[in-house]
Amino acid sequence: MKKFNLLYKVSFALILLFSSVTLFSLNSCAPSKAVAAKSGVQLWSENCQRCHNTPSPATFSPEIWETVGLHMQTRALITDKEREKIVEFLKASR
Ligand code: HEC
Repeated sequence: MKKFNLLYKVSFALILLFSSVTLFSLNSCAPSKAVAAKSGVQLWSENCQRCHNTPSPATFSPEIWETVGLHMQTRALITDKEREKIVEFLKASR
């Protein structure tokens, strides 16, 4: 029984170690030049379905997309430049 307990504790420690290493490496991605070079469609597909299904570009008029962009910028925590690129893509793809 003691052997089993030790094995259990060691595996638990290993699982904790590996999951924290994974979490750390996921969180430590610094924004790179590659991010600044991303297109509107790319930013849209990466950001706008994290919380809900992405509404199709045809859903709203260009004016409404401007407003949605400002609203969702505060939700998605994206930069002004990223929001501009996404809104331009949405308006152009209607
Ligand atoms: C962090 C989560 C999150 C992200 C990321 C996000 N949204 Fe939203 N979105 C919401 C929530 C929550 C609502 C419901 C309205 C509210 O509570 O603000 C919403 C509502 C909407 C609506 C309904 C109209 C409105 O303005 O309320 C549209 C359209 C929309 N989102 C588009 C987008 C687009 C485009 C992006 C990418 C730039 C985006 N969302 C990214 C959370 C998010």
